[in-house]
This record gives sequence, C-alpha cells and structure tokens, in this order.
Amino acid sequence: MDKLVIEGGRRLTGTVEISGSKNSCLPILAASLLTSERSVIKGVPRLADISTMSKILRNLGVRVDQRDDTLSILPGDYQGRTAPYELVSAMRASVCVLGPLLARFGRARVSFPGGCVIGPRPIDLHLKGLRALGAEIKIEGGYLIAETKGLKGCTVYLGGHFGSSVLATANIMMAATLAKGKTIIENAACEPELVDLAKFLNAMGAAITGYNTHRIEIEGVESLKGAEHNLIPDRIEAGTYIVAAAITRGDILLKNVIPEQITAIIDKLSEVGVSIKQEKDGLRVKVDRKLSSVDVTTLPYPGFPTDMQAQMMALMCTVGGISVITEKVYPERFIHISELNRMGADIILEGATAIIKGSKDLSGAPVMASDLRASAALILAGLVAQGRTEVNRVYHLDRGYERLEDKLAGLGAKVWREKSRRTTIDTTEYREKERVYGSSYQA
Ligand code: EPZ
Repeated sequence: MDKLVIEGGRRLTGTVEISGSKNSCLPILAASLLTSERSVIKGVPRLADISTMSKILRNLGVRVDQRDDTLSILPGDYQGRTAPYELVSAMRASVCVLGPLLARFGRARVSFPGGCVIGPRPIDLHLKGLRALGAEIKIEGGYLIAETKGLKGCTVYLGGHFGSSVLATANIMMAATLAKGKTIIENAACEPELVDLAKFLNAMGAAITGYNTHRIEIEGVESLKGAEHNLIPDRIEAGTYIVAAAITRGDILLKNVIPEQITAIIDKLSEVGVSIKQEKDGLRVKVDRKLSSVDVTTLPYPGFPTDMQAQMMALMCTVGGISVITEKVYPERFIHISELNRMGADIILEGATAIIKGSKDLSGAPVMASDLRASAALILAGLVAQGRTEVNRVYHLDRGYERLEDKLAGLGAKVWREKSRRTTIDTTEYREKERVYGSSYQA
C-alpha cells in the first residue's frame, strides 16, 4: 500500500487545473445503461472510483473504453448480470445502477451497500422512490433483487432524516425517464452534480425540468439515445485546493472552476479572511492578512458541503481562537479528529459538533487515511506541520483526487509517494470504525 510523504512548511504558489467531477461522472456512467446506443463522456478524471464503476458496467455486459480523459460506453443487452458485492462494497455509489437497470430491463440484482467510516449509509430513500414507481424489491443474501412489470410515474417525497439525498434523487430521476407518465420528486437534492446528470439525460432525449430546484419533474419517454457530455469541474477538489492555499498562507490560481457552484465555500473562506477573486483565467486565492476562526455547519446544497468539513477542520487548527464545526449531514463524519490530534491539534467532539482550539503548531506524524475527505484533511495538515507527515493507505485519496501529489508539488509543496511497509499504527477509533463498518470506504 502506498503512502504520501510531506515535508511541511512550504507556502503554495502557482496555478492548478481542477479535474472533472467524480460525483458527476459516477451517476452519469450509470445513466448510460438507459440506452443501447453509445455515449461519450469527456473531462473524466483518472480515479479509482471511476475504474470501479467502469468494472461494474463491464460486469453488466457494457463495453467501456477510456482514452485520456474520454470514456466511450456501449451498453450491450443485459444478461441479468449482477453488480457484485466485491465491487459495490468498494464504492457505495454503485447503488445508482439500480434505477437505470430497472427502467431499461425491468430487473436488477445489486449488492446491498453497507455503511462506512463516515457513518451508516442507509438507502431507504432509494427503495422508497423505486417502489413508488412500481418496483418490487426484496433483499436476499445481501443483494437487492428488484423487478417491475413497467415503471409508472408518480409523485414521491425524498426528504429523509438528514434532508435530501443526492444519489437517491439520481436513482429515481434516472428510473423515471422511461416510466409511463410524469414523476415529481419533492424535496429532491439539487447539487450541481445532479444538474449535470439531468443535462446528460435530457441530451439522451429525456424530459426533465426543475433539476436545479428541490422539485424535479420528469415526463417519461419511450426510449433514450446515446449522447456526448462534458463533465463539470470537481467543486470539492476546487474547495480542497482553496483550503490548501489558505492553510499555507499561499497565493494560487485555480483553473477550471465554476464559482457559482462553490458560493458557500467562497463565503466561508472569505469570512476566515482569505481573499478569493475571479480573474480572467481562473479563481485567485491568496492570504494577505491574519486569518480568524469561524463556525461551520454542513448542510445539503446550497449549504456548506459535508465533503469540505474535514478540510475546514484542518484549517481551523492553524488559526487563532475557537471554532465550532457541526455536521448535519453525516453526524459521525469525524474520524479525522483523532488523526489531527496526533499531529498536535486540540479538538474535542460533542455529539455531532467538534470544538477546535486553533493556532496549534502542528507537528508531522505518521497518520492513517480513512474517509476520502478525512485523508485530504491530513494532507492539508501535513502541508503546514513541522517536519514529516506520512499519510498511509493513500488508496483512499486515489479514489477522489487525481494526481494529488503532482498537483501539490506543482504548487511548491514537498510531497512524494512511497511504497509503504506494513504500518503498525493503530488508531483505536479507526480500528473500531473499521470493525463496525468494514475496511473499505464507500463514496
Ligand atoms: C453523495 O453521497 C456523495 N457521493 C457524497 O460524497 C456526499 O458526501 C453526499 O452525497 C452528501 O453530499 C457521491 O455523489 C458518489 P446522500 P450520497 O444520500 O448520495 C442520508 C465523497 O466524499 N440518507 O445525499 O450517498 C445519508 O445517511 C462522497 O465524494 C438516508 O437517510 O449521500 C446522509 O445522512 C462521500 N437515506 C444524508 O442522507 C437514504 O436512502 C445525505 O446522504 C440515502 C441517504
């Protein structure tokens, strides 16, 4: 297993190109199952999660060819193959093949996705929406066995205990494109990745409106055709590099960013004192004043994204004062606290609220990656920690950050990848989470 090694203390400067969005690409790959015609997706990041989804599609009889950042997908005729446990357990987003398979073939067999280190990952809203459309779904041997004699449009409310659900909205929206009649999704998620998915579906011939609101309408059609699509940039990768500039008090230019998709991130970092300005060829992020602590609460879009919570926590460790971070989407998404404290941070957890006593001088340490975004937080902390930080199990990062060490090194960081001997680090909390939720993280 590889590890990333960082010599801290360098200010980041220069230009970084943001890659295409992982969380837009995954449901769009699933949506390609809705037609027998070829689809072409451009701006695809080279990430482990994309390879996993490609393997799942191939397992379902689909031809998937990748050339540079372009994926060409040619669905075959579904022979009732399965989205198997070993692939679905590696990436929770695989559950969004359920809707397209049901809509196109009337049946699907998908491993039931488990929980993961960021908490239990229920799929009750996915099942509620698909059953409302007329699917019969049972659970046998850890698999979801879904069948339908034909999906029918309906009105379904998809709000859960923690608000809207991104992939449940995606699943129902995709299934509804081929249902008979109109479907209305109330309390739909409206993340930019769902807008991107809706645009791809409409390019395939679907009839979807209201996709950038919490009420989406889908008029079912007879069939869909192949389409070409350019992915939106990855807003969480962009947010991560904004924090990288902030935590090293640097000055960087981000290319391929859509500022309107990261207003909550820009707003919060501006409150910290980071200067963020749109220039002609990108987003300029620099620190030219003392930064201050702020409070953060994560919420569904357009609120502050939960996928940026860990990164903000790392930053708050390095500014004076007390900050309070409340997690309203995944209340258990705090596995990074124990690792940051091993680097000298002073963070306590009260339920779903973390209290950070900032301005600690972090010191480098060997730490363990776990959740994709928690791992990013450890990298950010390592950029400013004194001495050397080794982030083990870096495969978690390879799931969501394309060429991370190259991009950081290009900004002046001293970071490299090493083959790591078996590590003996034992962080109790991590081991506990791993025992409870399984050893692999699921996006
Ligand atoms: C998507 O996951 C993202 N993954 C996650 O990013 C992201 O953290 C999450 O949305 C929230 O923004 C992908 O897009 C591949 P949810 P998703 O359903 O759709 C609860 C990353 O790091 N819920 O919006 O699975 C759920 O437990 C990953 O890139 C139900 O209660 O998340 C959570 O508390 C991590 N029942 C809340 O809703 C359900 O049926 C939001 O989850 C489904 C979800």
